[in-house]
Amino acid sequence: MTHASIQIIRDEHAALAAMLRSLILMVERGPGDAPEQYFDVLRAMLFYIDELPERLHHPKESELLFPKVAHSAPQIAAVIAQLDKDHQRGEGAVRELQHHLLAWELLGESRRTVFETAARSYVRFYLDHMNLEEREILPAAEQSLTAQEWTELDAAFATNCDPLTGKYPRDPIYDRLFTRIVMMAPAPIGLGSAR
Ligand SMILES: [Fe+2]
Ligand SMILES: [Fe+2]
Repeated sequence: MTHASIQIIRDEHAALAAMLRSLILMVERGPGDAPEQYFDVLRAMLFYIDELPERLHHPKESELLFPKVAHSAPQIAAVIAQLDKDHQRGEGAVRELQHHLLAWELLGESRRTVFETAARSYVRFYLDHMNLEEREILPAAEQSLTAQEWTELDAAFATNCDPLTGKYPRDPIYDRLFTRIVMMAPAPIGLGSAR
């Protein structure tokens, strides 16, 4: 049986991966003849990543899961150190990306390539990061944690989940932000055709 905390991590990864794929799709399509809508959705997406995965998902891993796995599966300490480093870098990286986007929107085309290049490298970095966690950390946790540790983890994880997964209770303050992203962004995250 999959432990609730592992399922939450997988669900949050899936939601975030969908968001990142929509973001890249938008970068590839460009603003076309609707730049206002384009910048509006991209801004909302980056704000979402900064607000939720950065503040809810990473701390769950770095503060709750990783220390237990490092203790019971010391052979993957180097992987955990790498992932923790990624977490520390993540917030700065998404802020920088938000700045590059604003620079393109407010200063014009000369700043477009910088944003597009940074966006591609950010998405690659994030997808690789989640991949590494699913490949190395989750199996090691499943093999080495005790029943008592799972009870503690599941209880701690249950109280702070990313509402974008659609499976866990959501804080109503994010409703407007989600509606905005989902209505305007392209699939897989949204229903719209923002370009
Ligand atoms: Fe992570
Ligand atoms: Fe993760």
